[in-house]
Amino acid sequence: NTRLVISRHFSHCAPAAMALKFPIYPPPEYGGQTQPVKRPKEFACFSYDKDHKFRLDDSSLKWYYPPDLGVNLSSGFDQFIQHDGSIDEHLDSLLKTIASHEQKTGEPIDAHIVTWRGMLTKIMAVPFDDSEFEMNATLYRDSIFIEEHHAFKVVQQQAIPPRPGRRNGPPNELMCYWGYKFETLSTLPRPWGETPRDYIENRDQEVVNNKEQYCSVVRTGFGDTVVCLGGEVDAIWDAKPATPGEPIKWVELKTSSEIRSENEQFRFDRKALKYWIQSFLLGVPKIIVGFRNQDGILTSVQEFQTMSLPYEVQRRGMAKWDGNICIKFATLFLDWLRLNIKDEGVWRIQRRKGAREIEVFRVEVGHGRIITDEFMDWRIRLE
Ligand code: A3P
Ligand code: MG
Ligand code: MG
Repeated sequence: NTRLVISRHFSHCAPAAMALKFPIYPPPEYGGQTQPVKRPKEFACFSYDKDHKFRLDDSSLKWYYPPDLGVNLSSGFDQFIQHDGSIDEHLDSLLKTIASHEQKTGEPIDAHIVTWRGMLTKIMAVPFDDSEFEMNATLYRDSIFIEEHHAFKVVQQQAIPPRPGRRNGPPNELMCYWGYKFETLSTLPRPWGETPRDYIENRDQEVVNNKEQYCSVVRTGFGDTVVCLGGEVDAIWDAKPATPGEPIKWVELKTSSEIRSENEQFRFDRKALKYWIQSFLLGVPKIIVGFRNQDGILTSVQEFQTMSLPYEVQRRGMAKWDGNICIKFATLFLDWLRLNIKDEGVWRIQRRKGAREIEVFRVEVGHGRIITDEFMDWRIRLE
């Protein structure tokens, strides 16, 4: 069992029995008063270019422009330029962007927690999702930096079984391509007014490349905890506002299978939890879903407002999730984490499938590979 071997290898310092445990109660326990949340504000951004090279700018920003319907999302699969997910990127790009921002302001950012948006998505989803995860965290100066435990994720992804009930359906790799193809069909590399007509008409011919990304770096908060998050944004609706800190009309793009029955509506509503959390965390106000049939033909496009999505789902009453409970849970967990990670070391944050607790235990001394030498050198110079 590869996973056992890996977890033994990485957990050499402390047996999990000595772990600190954060209990996970049934969702109603987190009801009642809602938590104060800050509106996420972008304070920096970066891009990965077509070769996944880091750039400290917005060069990979894309503009939303509605896609043509009836297109086959599988087309061009053979030319797909796919990012190699087996490489552990740690927090490197986020740290570079933060250091550059600090160079401009002359002071360290004030976040208690620094991480990728994906890590907080997993934490916020816990009350309604039994998925397992592993992260590494380390306290450096006054911030806790959290990264994904990459070796665990790689093993977890290799273990994904073919989709149930789809023995004769499209393979996972193709279905994954559909998501990126939809992004290419729905975006422009320049605003509409600056885009040649034939680019728009021939978007179906564009090579799909998921190495290219625009990432927003925001300051947000849960209760008293200030959080700095980095995450990919798919597109912008119009233009960035002239005043920094003003809300940005971001667009999150998703694909989903057509909804033709109550059961399919239920499955969509359940998935919408992740859509909502992901968009909420970076302050993305609009989610645009491309619906496709079993053969991967894009049949319709629907816009959802992130703010009202939880109410829409609640109104239908099929999938039971509540955004306020996710916020409350994350607020309590981050408070607890800050109280408990007070010493140096690399700490594992671990949730086993369906477990009613999140375990935190020290696996190494030092900061592991979470903080780069470059970032530490920068912080030493700053002081
Ligand atoms: P869809 O989810 O729209 O089908 P994101 O929506 O986060 O911008 O991600 C874009 C696409 O990346 C997804 O498209 C999906 O194809 C792929 N993707 C994202 N997260 C994934 C995951 N955890 N596993 C497999 N594929 C994923
Ligand atoms: Mg994306
Ligand atoms: Mg998307």
